[in-house]
Amino acid sequence: MFSDNLINLLRGDPVVTILTGAGISAESGVPTFRGEDGIWKKFKPEEIASFDAFIRNPELVWEWYRLRQSIIKDIKPNPGHYTIAEFEKMYKKFYLITQNVDGLHTKAGSREPIELHGNIMRNRCMDCAKEYLEIELPAEAAIPKCDACGGMLRPDVVWFGESIPMNALIRSEKAVNEATLFFSIGTSAQVQPAASMPIRAKNGGAYLIEMNIEETDLTPFADEFIAGKSGELLPELKSLVTMIEN
Ligand code: OAD
Repeated sequence: MFSDNLINLLRGDPVVTILTGAGISAESGVPTFRGEDGIWKKFKPEEIASFDAFIRNPELVWEWYRLRQSIIKDIKPNPGHYTIAEFEKMYKKFYLITQNVDGLHTKAGSREPIELHGNIMRNRCMDCAKEYLEIELPAEAAIPKCDACGGMLRPDVVWFGESIPMNALIRSEKAVNEATLFFSIGTSAQVQPAASMPIRAKNGGAYLIEMNIEETDLTPFADEFIAGKSGELLPELKSLVTMIEN
């Protein structure tokens, strides 16, 4: 399942960049966006995950995000997240870029994942930008307000039509440009700018691995496609890499 080439690369001194999507958290019980049971099969993104939707009906948007916050708060990382955190410790240069807002990489021990789409457990004031953690929100208010300036709070996630935070963009550029080994894990590779990162890394000379339960639009460009669940494959891969050969 894992090529000798990949094992040898991982036993060397690669600059590893890992890009993750909703699939890495699927085995923790966080629903993915696309596919049969995907979130976007049940809800239209423009009705709950856009600035227009929020201005039109902030109560509804907040109801949805409070529900997701309450679910994600109790969810635990799976062996895929933990293995990525262990890989981070093995390499001098290692970058983790995630499209997920669930914070599970941090819970698993990853130090500073680049969160392209923000973090659902964080909220911020739309007027003065003061940050709030989910646990600090007043439980009873339908639309939580800022205690510093009275402005409306919103979840600190990137909605449709919004830009990626500048800091995350700059850091991810570096991670893409420096990679010599790039993993795309559990993402359908359909949402920019993440979707083009694996190919840009490959064009810059990186060896490109895709790990997913099914093929995606990225698959024809990958040097290796590894089919299966990331929560099972990643620990297996790591134990092969760290196995001492006699
Ligand atoms: P998607 O739901 O589009 O894709 C999830 C991918 O994970 C699919 O390709 C699945 O085949 C794969 N998958 C599912 N279970 C897996 C497992 N156990 N192991 C490995 N792979 C598995 O999610 P994303 O690609 O993350 O953006 O979606 C990108 C963005 O679109 C999200 O960040 C979100 C969404 O709209 C915003 O909300 C801004």
